[in-house]
Amino acid sequence: MTVQELQKAFVDAYGKKEDAIYFSPGRVNLIGEHTDYNGGYVFPCALSFGTYLLIRKNGTKEVNFRSVNEPEVIKVSLDKITEPLAKGTWANYLMGVFTQFIKRGVEFKEGYDILIWGNVPLGAGLSSSAALEVVTAFALNDQMGTGYDRTELAKIGQKAEHEFAYVMCGIMDQFASAQGKKDHAIFLNCDTLEFELVPVKLNGIKVVISNTHSPHKLGDEYNDRVRECQLAVEQLRTVRPNLNNLAELTQAEFDEIKGAITDPIALKRARHVVGEVQRTVDAVKYLKAGDIETFGKLMNASHDSLRDDYEVTGKFLDTLAEEAWKIDGVIGSRMTGGGFGGCTVSLVKNEAIDTFKEKVGKAYKEKTGLEADFYIAEIGDGAKKI
Ligand code: GLA
Repeated sequence: MTVQELQKAFVDAYGKKEDAIYFSPGRVNLIGEHTDYNGGYVFPCALSFGTYLLIRKNGTKEVNFRSVNEPEVIKVSLDKITEPLAKGTWANYLMGVFTQFIKRGVEFKEGYDILIWGNVPLGAGLSSSAALEVVTAFALNDQMGTGYDRTELAKIGQKAEHEFAYVMCGIMDQFASAQGKKDHAIFLNCDTLEFELVPVKLNGIKVVISNTHSPHKLGDEYNDRVRECQLAVEQLRTVRPNLNNLAELTQAEFDEIKGAITDPIALKRARHVVGEVQRTVDAVKYLKAGDIETFGKLMNASHDSLRDDYEVTGKFLDTLAEEAWKIDGVIGSRMTGGGFGGCTVSLVKNEAIDTFKEKVGKAYKEKTGLEADFYIAEIGDGAKKI
């Protein structure tokens, strides 16, 4: 939908024009998967698609939530906004954000009419939920004049996800949505939240996102991975009492003390995290040096590790990645995001893109019965007022 169409939809829904429009993007992560909640590095970029939010003060004590994609209006009085609705209700993401503002001492005296619309494919692992949280945080920050910086808005979004969607996610998605910059990826230290914007203008190469159309639903399995990593840390503390995060360990240090992890699953998870942090640091170094081939090899190694040690890929993502690796002109390919379905990200030479789509699409259909979708990623800016 265009902005004009959204404005019309707002008037149709509420009978009046909006006060303001905000946008926040989805993201694709180039490398550094399942490292964020382990205090490691990630390397995501914001996409040009995301979630729009139109808002006006309505002079009542109620907030009306409408989505262009959903038929019903969800009406919540301000004194009930901190109480999550049934699990899975989309308005929970926004209510979770209101709640974080309230927890920080912000007092909402007046309600709002809100309309949202997004063009991030849902359940594709491209952070449609983070886009929704961050656009809400960005809008309320502007409406209430609270002056939180973008990093704080990302933290607000992450907390909303924890408390209202029950996914104990790391900070990557909300951070990318808040801090993204056109044609740059964000090299983020998830422990300190220090970050560097690294240009990803690739000569003759595109970032291609391939959607398995096997929807990923982050929930129990994701939270299991978080717990398994915590178990690894606890067991390592028997020999390293001060250890906070798996990402603090170099590969050599890990190899020396990994025997302390007696749980075989926790050991595999930890091995992925330690290796992935190193791969991410190396990948950024190679990208900066213009060695895109090595960057691509590290992407492939990341996928292998997510498949074998972290066990978050599955048949659909594996098929897309493995078929991509067979094509001449593919620099690298891996699953992106939480996993369990969703998307892969590939670096593909311009002249190979048509063959890539055709061959990978055909083989994927034959092997899984599903139709894949391919998008050329445009790396866009973070949250903004329109
Ligand atoms: C999901 C989470 C992120 C991150 C990724 C895996 O997208 O929301 O915090 O953990 O999975 O890297």
